[in-house]
Amino acid sequence: MSTKPRYAVFGNPIAHSKSPRLHSLFAAQTGQSLSYEALLAPLDGFAATVAAFRAAGGRGLNVTVPFKLEAFDLADRHTPRAAAAGAVNTLAFGPNGILGDNTDGAGILRDITVNLRCPVAGKRVLLLGAGGAARGTVLPLLEARPASLVIANRTAARAADLADEFTSAGAIRPEGCGFIQLAGRRFDIVINATSASLSDAAPDLPAGLYAPDSLAYDMMYGKGDTAFMVAARRQGATLVADGLGMLVEQAAESFLLWRGVRPDTAPVLAELRAAL
Ligand code: ATR
Repeated sequence: MSTKPRYAVFGNPIAHSKSPRLHSLFAAQTGQSLSYEALLAPLDGFAATVAAFRAAGGRGLNVTVPFKLEAFDLADRHTPRAAAAGAVNTLAFGPNGILGDNTDGAGILRDITVNLRCPVAGKRVLLLGAGGAARGTVLPLLEARPASLVIANRTAARAADLADEFTSAGAIRPEGCGFIQLAGRRFDIVINATSASLSDAAPDLPAGLYAPDSLAYDMMYGKGDTAFMVAARRQGATLVADGLGMLVEQAAESFLLWRGVRPDTAPVLAELRAAL
């Protein structure tokens, strides 16, 4: 039996996960010896599957749909960013129990600020959506000190509730509203955290949202542009990006937590992009 430290991603479905590829590229690049597999956890058996993996020598896990809330409940301790997200995508098993982290928000911030060279500080930021993907991004965004943060959602009340949760988390108070209330406003960075792109749709936004030199960022990705990206180009966004970089960066942040080494993501992102 292999004595390499074992890691895995748990989800359902999981067959198409890019995480094993990502982590084996990171391991090769940093000279770390580890194994990383994709494991299908039964919908009603997440906790038992985690316990079995840990008992068999597992050192850490990534967790994806639909288990991020259960992973939160399973963790004995949470990082502040996981506590703010209310969801966990990374578990680390240690002598003091299970640490739950959430690297999604850090991943998108790093993709925007480092890979896309678009600083968030001082910018007018619009976050679209009020589900789990949006929630995980609010605290890291506020910590990056934007001039303002508006959270807009198809169902306005959910955006207002989400904004209210973060009234004292950063230097500024986020504002929550519906799409219609965005009319006449302009933003430097617009992030799509809705799941609309999954059904090849774009959020129904008023025209004129994009300021000169603005970035439109979709957390989703695919072979070509998503519906949101197509609409953003048409509406005049200067720079348009998908979420492949976020995927690579959240994985690198998990790798850093487990192994204490930050991989160089640029060549890994290029390789994944070429294979799309
Ligand atoms: P996730 O965890 O991926 O964020 P979720 O919690 O189901 O998933 O949230 C989905 C988000 O996408 C919600 O903000 C949803 O808006 P509502 O709260 O109004 O349902 C948003 N969404 C999904 N399809 C959309 C569409 N076609 N246009 C605009 N927003 C959409």
